Amino acid sequence: MSEQAQPILTVRGISKRFGGVQALKDIHFDVLPGEVHALVGENGAGKSTLMNILGGIVPRDSGEVVFMGREVRFNAPQEAIDAGIAIIHQELAMLPTLSIIDNVFMGRMPARLGWISWGELEKLTQKALARVGLHQVNPYTRVRDLSASQRQLVEIAKALSLNARLLIMDEPNSSLSESETQTLFRVIHELQQDGVSIIFVSHKIEEVLQISQRISVLRDGCNTGTLSQSEATVEKIIQMMVGRELVRDHRRGQQNSGEVLLQVSALSGQGFRDVSFEVRKGEILGFSGLVGAGRSELARAVFGADPVFGGEIRWQGRPVRWNSPADAIRAGVAMVQEDRKVQSLFMKLPILFNMTLATLPAYTRRGWIDYQKAREVSQFLVQKLSIKLGSLDHPVSSLSGGNQQKTILARWLAANPKLLILDEPTHGVDVGAKAEIYQLIRRLAEDGVAIWLISSELPEILTMSDRVAVMCEGRLAAVLERDQADEEKIMAYATGTVSQPAAALL
Ligand SMILES: Nc1ncnc2c1ncn2[C@@H]1O[C@H](COP(=O)(O)OP(=O)(O)OP(=O)(O)O)[C@@H](O)[C@H]1O
Ligand SMILES: [Mg+2]
Repeated sequence: MSEQAQPILTVRGISKRFGGVQALKDIHFDVLPGEVHALVGENGAGKSTLMNILGGIVPRDSGEVVFMGREVRFNAPQEAIDAGIAIIHQELAMLPTLSIIDNVFMGRMPARLGWISWGELEKLTQKALARVGLHQVNPYTRVRDLSASQRQLVEIAKALSLNARLLIMDEPNSSLSESETQTLFRVIHELQQDGVSIIFVSHKIEEVLQISQRISVLRDGCNTGTLSQSEATVEKIIQMMVGRELVRDHRRGQQNSGEVLLQVSALSGQGFRDVSFEVRKGEILGFSGLVGAGRSELARAVFGADPVFGGEIRWQGRPVRWNSPADAIRAGVAMVQEDRKVQSLFMKLPILFNMTLATLPAYTRRGWIDYQKAREVSQFLVQKLSIKLGSLDHPVSSLSGGNQQKTILARWLAANPKLLILDEPTHGVDVGAKAEIYQLIRRLAEDGVAIWLISSELPEILTMSDRVAVMCEGRLAAVLERDQADEEKIMAYATGTVSQPAAALL
């Protein structure tokens, strides 16, 4: 990439309004050939909207886009793809009941490929999967049977197979593990070598610094500037994103003297075996481990969402068997699942409905729903979590990705649980909102709520947890007191390079 290179993409004066929300205001932006240009900003800043305009998904109100020397205005996603722009969407856009092959070649089998046999499609799909490190996955697997990170990798494989000149990645690695992310970065480098340009949207600022040549920042729908890799620092970027200094995270005093709320003994199920631990009132128990270590599976089984094969669960001292989440919820357990779109949100229904779903009985009297009360509670939570929305009556699909995540959190906070299971609660959430969510989790713990926090981000585990449980290949490898837990130790247990004697777990 030389200094004089002409941009492959130039965006001039783009604006976009959704009803009362000005999502973008006079945006200027360009991308050079073979460049990775990162786009960062808080939840609701307008990143996905800008990308959706470039991809022909959302029409712009004003402004112009020049792509490969020509002014373009795409009226449909296919037009953008034909011109050479592919998008990996923030919210996964595949059909869960169809196979990987169907999803990768959806809509372009006859047009692009002519008459082609299934055997060839299978080979092409396998090749695309191998590129993102999914060598061992069968192309006929249904998408719904993949894990969240595998789904994300398939989305990436699909976009790669389109041979785009400009690849837009809207938070492509929000649910990828460290090693999967490194695979993604390797693919990005290869694409760059081939002259492909990439727009990389992400909340992981350290990674943005590692991968991109330039970084542009949006705040409330406006440009706040573009930095080159050499002048950018985490502090500078955050300052441009939020326009203020962030409160630093303080660790609170360690809590684990409360009564035991949940006791799990020798529990086995799909993806985990022989797991024993306990959670006390008012403590935050962090669950660390590599993606695929069985942390989500364990939590889902305890919550009654998946079957248990053996072992025992005690709740407030008594043995229980929850056969469905409804049983667990009735007992006072709430769980925020990892894969928000597939598992828990009704995208077309109002935010109000989605937020009060878990607590509807509380607002229902003789079959009538007390909307006034439901609305008051929701408004309170919107304020508490600083959820950015037009109105509670708008569909969830009108929210930015991070604000959708907060909506789910609000739903379960409204349920007033005794035990709150959080599976990657800050995925896709911006730095400011993250700090707010941390504060909220701590406050809940201080009020006596037990928190079971699953997270792949070690800094999150280390700042939040009173104790840290580490899983490795379906087994509980260690439970560390906070003062014994550090990154090296956790990684050593998570990768199985050391193991804790069984006696130490008791
Ligand atoms: N279809 C829509 N209808 C109404 N409002 C919308 C729609 N799409 C986006 N918005 C609003 O436009 C604003 C920008 O949203 P956008 O999704 O672009 O944010 P983002 O920067 O991608 O955020 P995140 O980091 O959370 O993904 C938000 O206030 C959002 O609620
Ligand atoms: Mg977005």
